[in-house]
Amino acid sequence: MRTHTRHVLMCVGPRCTENGMRAQAMFELMGKKIDASPDMRIKRTRTHCMAVCRNQGPILVVYPEGVWYRCVDETALERIIAEHLVGGQEVDELIFHRLGEGDTCPWGDDDA
Ligand code: FES
Repeated sequence: MRTHTRHVLMCVGPRCTENGMRAQAMFELMGKKIDASPDMRIKRTRTHCMAVCRNQGPILVVYPEGVWYRCVDETALERIIAEHLVGGQEVDELIFHRLGEGDTCPWGDDDA
């Protein structure tokens, strides 16, 4: 295994997107982006349900930061890749939970 600096977990379970189909496509898109930028040194892993789903797009977790994203669509995924994984700046408005801090916004509150 290559040395990596971050581990990204993405849920491709059946409730984040319909039957996980769009989540799987987004996981593959993320892989293409990572492969195109080997300097990112990202390990990515697809997971099954993380038990926090509400049809709000695939859940994406980034370690070592312990940041949990509601990755709503491809645009949000592009932002997370560009701003967090490449730029090192977390995308606060897409985060719903932080390791050691708990939930940062209530579920269903789109303004959070
Ligand atoms: S199906 Fe993704 S968190 Fe449950």
